[in-house]
Parts: sequence; C-alpha cells; structure tokens
Amino acid sequence: VTKPLKIAVAGLGTVGAGTIKLLFDHADMISARCGRNIVCTAVAARNRAKDRGVSMTEQQWFDDPVTMAAQADADVIVELIGGSSGAAKAVCETAIAHGRHVVTANKALLAVHGNDLARLAEDAGVTLAYEASVAGGIPIIKALREGLVGNKISALSGILNGTCNYILTTMRETGRDFSDVLAEAQQLGYAEADPSFDIDGVDAAHKLTILSSLAFGHKLDFAAVKSEGIRHISAEDIRLAGELGYRIKLLGIARSTEHGIEQRVYPCMVPLASPIAQVEGVFNAVEVVGDYVGRSVYEGRGAGAGPTASAVVADLVDIALGRSSPTFGIPATKMKPAVFADPGKHLGAYYVRLMVRDKPGVLADVTAALRDENVSIESVIQRSRAPDGVVPLVMTLHETEEANVTRALARIEELETVTEPPRLIRIEGV
Ligand code: NDP
Ligand code: HSE
Repeated sequence: VTKPLKIAVAGLGTVGAGTIKLLFDHADMISARCGRNIVCTAVAARNRAKDRGVSMTEQQWFDDPVTMAAQADADVIVELIGGSSGAAKAVCETAIAHGRHVVTANKALLAVHGNDLARLAEDAGVTLAYEASVAGGIPIIKALREGLVGNKISALSGILNGTCNYILTTMRETGRDFSDVLAEAQQLGYAEADPSFDIDGVDAAHKLTILSSLAFGHKLDFAAVKSEGIRHISAEDIRLAGELGYRIKLLGIARSTEHGIEQRVYPCMVPLASPIAQVEGVFNAVEVVGDYVGRSVYEGRGAGAGPTASAVVADLVDIALGRSSPTFGIPATKMKPAVFADPGKHLGAYYVRLMVRDKPGVLADVTAALRDENVSIESVIQRSRAPDGVVPLVMTLHETEEANVTRALARIEELETVTEPPRLIRIEGV
C-alpha cells in the first residue's frame, strides 16, 4: 500500500479552510487519482477557538506555524497565511530547511522573495508550488510552464484581480458606491487582508511579476512593475467609457518590446466588443500570445475559497504523484535579470477627463498644450453647461508615446481653468 501524503496547513482562513473542506469532500476521488490518500495531520492559525466551518478534530494544533513547519508529521507544508514577510516567509523557509515541500497561494511572498525561495527549494530538492497564487481557479502557472513550454511568448495580459473586477462590474451594473462594493468583496472572501493591495493594483502587480518571469524566463522583479489601481476611477468615468464604446478593466500587461520587457498594471478602457470586456465580476482572464500557438485565452474565477482551494489541491496532487519542474520554468540559478522598457516609451491611445471652469478659451488652452507635445486628439466631449461653474471635459487621444501625454497633462494641470489633476485612462485594443 502506498503511504499517504501528509500535509500540514498554516492559515485557516478563506483559502485554508476551503482547502481542508475540498480534501475532505473529495477524499475518495483524490485518492483514486493519486493512488494514495492526502491526509492533513496538522494545522496552525492564530485563534484556536474560531469556527472554520470544517471539522479539524483529527489534526494536531500548533499555535506557532513556524514550529509546525519544523516539527509536524508532514511531507508538505501548505502556507496560507499571506504577506510578503513575517510568519509566511518563515514558514516557507523553515519547511524547505527541513526537507519538506511547500505549497502556497502567497503571490506577495513570491513576487518579493520568489528568486531566493526557488533557489532554496531547488537546492534542497523539494517542490515550491504556487498555482493558487495567480488567477485562482485558472491553471495559468501550469499553462505557461508546461502547456506552452514550446513557445516564445511575446505578450501576456489579463484581468488578474477578482476584487477590482467585481467592484468595476458591480459599480457599472448597479450604480453602487465604490466603498460599499469593496466591503461586499471583502465579505465574500475575495479581498486581501489589506484591501488597498487590491484596489491600488499591488496584488495584480505581484501576480504579473510571477507570470512575466514564467513567460519570459527572467528573474522575478516586483520593483520593475509600474502599477496603478482603480481608486481614482469615478462613476462618471465608468458611464463615459460606456458612451464611448468601452468598458473599464484593471489589466496586468507584460510584453516584449524593442525597448525591453514592459510590465504594467493599470485600469484601461477595452472595446465593448472585445472578449476581455465580457469577463465580469470575480472572474479573471489571461491572454497569452506565443509564436507557435498564436493567441490563447484562459478564464475562470479569480478569488474565493472554492477556486483557490482547487488550485492548492492541484499542487498537492502533483506532489503526491511525484510530478515536478523547476519552480519558475528554468532552474533558479540560470534565471537572469530582465531588461525593462522605459514606461514613457509606451505607445498607446488614451482617455483624459479634465474638470474645467466653463469659460471661453479653456478648450483652446488645453488643445495648445497637446499640440505643443505632438499629441493628437481623436474626440472631445463637453456636454453639460455651467457658466462659471465646473464641468467635465473628456477627450480621447490618438496613439502617442506616453511621455508626450504625461508632459502635456502636466502643463494642462497648471492651467488656472483646470480645477483637478487630469485623469488619464489608457485605451487598450485587446
Ligand atoms: P485569511 O485572512 O482569510 O486567512 C489567513 C489565515 O492565516 C487565518 O486563518 C489566520 O488565523 C492565519 N494567520 C495570520 N497570521 C498568522 C500567524 N502569524 N500565525 C498563524 N496563523 C496566522 O486569508 P486568505 O485565506 O484569504 O488568504 C491566504 C493566502 O492566500 C494569502 O496569501 C492570499 O493572498 C492568498 N490568496 C487568497 C485568495 C482569496 O480569494 N482569498 C485567492 C488567492 C490567493 P486566524 O483565522 O486565527 O485569524
Ligand atoms: N485578492 C485577490 C483578488 C485574491 O481579489 O484577486 C485572489 O488572488
């Protein structure tokens, strides 16, 4: 009889409890697929008394997850605490030092310390698996590292944060407030412990760091991802996007350009008819362009207990079956730093919303600044009228290098008739 795979789970929140529930519900099926049982022998969290909605009477309880990583009767430590430092990092390092495999959903930890952790794991001959860290239920790590391994990837883009997509979709469909919808996303278990990571684009940047390294084979470099979130997107922007034939999505984009690798996260307008515009709510989608495969698209729920537990269990089954590959596709010792493109060189189209005093000459001053920086206007909307009041002035700009637009907007912001910093949303032809 093959010995069971013993696991110890650190963190029993949305994902930890969801993983234990899945393993319990599908124990027989998973055992049949692995040829052995997967048994949870130990758990750790902060509050022993908390009801997790799953039975945990059989497992040894540890107050300290790092002690558990060293001492539990387990082959695999599953790190589901979160955070790029502190307990989560110590748990992973300790597990590896004790020759145990690690499964984690922690994109923050991998984005910041993934190079070192991969090296430690590979030196120790153990697996560091992280399918749950990006796009929840979409097996995008496997798709890039295994399914598309024969391709030279030129671009990768997608909706990588379920919370933001849920907020943008719900605000548009219901007209509800940003903060109200965010609270709902938190309640549903979608948001990070610190939800500013979601809404400021940090979580999507963590995920893009991982995907970009897998796609282009370079070291992970979170600091090289330029990111913006959705805090400044107003209900008016969402409405105007619809009027212009677009939908607003927070996208993570990594592409190979003549200037180097571009790694960016920002809210953008995508054409209403594009497939990515139809990806709504907590769903994520990732599009990958490879030289032999062409364009391929992956879609699924990006957050929540079920989809994330599904990915954690996929990693556990791989370990139970003895399937493994280098952590980020090529051995950690062989990964080189990337050459990154200057974001100012980005070529794209733009939506700009200004709040201006409704006075003669405003439009002439704004267009003069754009003309001086060689930026060409595609359309202008100023419908409301409020003599001597403040009105929105909305423009779309033709494809231009971003540095030119940035300089023009800096001049426009200085105009006495412009009352707020200009809001810029990039237009992507996805
Ligand atoms: P939760 O906040 O729901 O759960 C975190 C768990 O960690 C809790 O059980 C908490 O204990 C425990 N914990 C926190 N600090 C410590 C500590 N110092 N020692 C011991 N236990 C500790 O988080 P999630 O389940 O949502 O997320 C877990 C990980 O999964 C994160 O890395 C997150 O980014 C990632 N992830 C989350 C997804 C989601 O949809 N939620 C999707 C994909 C990835 P207690 O319950 O006692 O307070
Ligand atoms: N907070 C993350 C999101 C969880 O909303 O996408 C999934 O990684």
